[in-house]
Amino acid sequence: MPSTQGPFFFPMAHFVLFVFTASTIFHLQQRLVRIQPPPAIGRLEPAEPEDNASSAPSAPSARGPERPSTPSARSTAPRGMWTINAIGRLGNQMGEYATLYALAKLNGRPAFIPAEMHSTLAPIFRISLPVLQGAAARRVPWRNYPLHDWMEEQYRHIPWEYVRLTGYPCSWTFYHHLRPEILREFTLHDHVRAGAQAYLRGLRVNGSRPATFVGVHVRRGDYVQVMPDVWKGVVADRAYLQAALDRFRARHPAPVFVVTSNGMAWCRENIDASRGDVVFAGDGVEGSPAKDFALLTQCNHTVMTIGTFGIWAAYLAGGETVYLANYTLPDSPFLKLFKPEAAFLPEWFGIAADLSPLRKH
Ligand SMILES: *[C@@H]1O[C@H](CO)[C@@H](O)[C@H](O)[C@H]1NC(C)=O
Ligand SMILES: *[C@@H]1O[C@H](CO)[C@@H](O)[C@H](O)[C@H]1NC(C)=O
Ligand SMILES: *[C@@H]1O[C@H](CO)[C@@H](O)[C@H](O)[C@H]1NC(C)=O
Ligand SMILES: *[C@@H]1O[C@H](CO)[C@@H](O)[C@H](O)[C@H]1NC(C)=O
Repeated sequence: MPSTQGPFFFPMAHFVLFVFTASTIFHLQQRLVRIQPPPAIGRLEPAEPEDNASSAPSAPSARGPERPSTPSARSTAPRGMWTINAIGRLGNQMGEYATLYALAKLNGRPAFIPAEMHSTLAPIFRISLPVLQGAAARRVPWRNYPLHDWMEEQYRHIPWEYVRLTGYPCSWTFYHHLRPEILREFTLHDHVRAGAQAYLRGLRVNGSRPATFVGVHVRRGDYVQVMPDVWKGVVADRAYLQAALDRFRARHPAPVFVVTSNGMAWCRENIDASRGDVVFAGDGVEGSPAKDFALLTQCNHTVMTIGTFGIWAAYLAGGETVYLANYTLPDSPFLKLFKPEAAFLPEWFGIAADLSPLRKH
């Protein structure tokens, strides 16, 4: 038992210590910053006309965007204001938030989130980016900037001051270099975390408290139709889940599997629980995902299927991750929008999907 635990325990302890230290320092800084109003708030309306020179097509300079100095500039506060669209549900909006956070920082611009994003994320996480209220947002001369779902060199040198990033970005390639900051932004509120911890503490496998918790997220719902109909793809099947769970059973002594899904009935029928090590924990309420999401992030490891909810749960849980790989046909239009290598961390373990149901048609 200790030999399997060892390699994971020590890096995890250092990591937790690091995150704790980093977040303490950050919160101290935040307090100091809050004493003064954020410089950008007073600049909701541009003080000068848009600077046309700086909106020339990006000729990426080595140093990133220049900040034109204006006669009235009194401080070195970063100019402008960046935001991002708030579309999709929890996992998508987490991806949008993290991408805005990272790209605004790379380009030296202040980031603001739309009110809708705040109402999706703030009940669950201790996010720190300020909110742009609708009335103020409407007066800003935004320039929309569409993003791919992976990082591109040109995103390091976006020259404009008032940028609204658009798209559904959810790729570690935007923000993994800031991982400690992203984990801090997505720290659960204490009451959300406590609820999940109390649930996990109550679990028993054959009468003993398990040492290893594996969160299992099974995305179903609309994807069951959308994957084959729109994307020439499949969702996770019974064989995938069996293989994924068996991998953890082989690598860890008596783990417990904590299953959440928006198709719990399918899970009860298709995940073998005969060993007594599977709990069907999720409530699957799509409109209030906090409880299921918190459970997954408090587990040590993750089995995901498809979708950004599972990707984020795995990213935050931070342990071993098994994902469903190659779940579309090679000519799927999905692969024009989605690069697997930008979605799954290199250290995650992929199990290829069975595409035979698609080939029958
Ligand atoms: C700046 O660009 C806008 C829109 O492209 C244009 O109407 C305006 O005349 C330009 N201003 C200057 C100073 O070139
Ligand atoms: C729990 O006990 C039963 C009966 O002894 C056994 O068959 C099963 O494998 C045990 N489960 C685990 C996860 O150890
Ligand atoms: C595994 O997760 C549980 C529940 O969150 C936690 O108490 C425990 O410390 C974790 N184990 C490791 C090795 O991180
Ligand atoms: C997915 O497909 C790619 C390209 O064919 C292949 O290199 C990779 O090994 C596959 N992944 C898995 C987990 O089978």
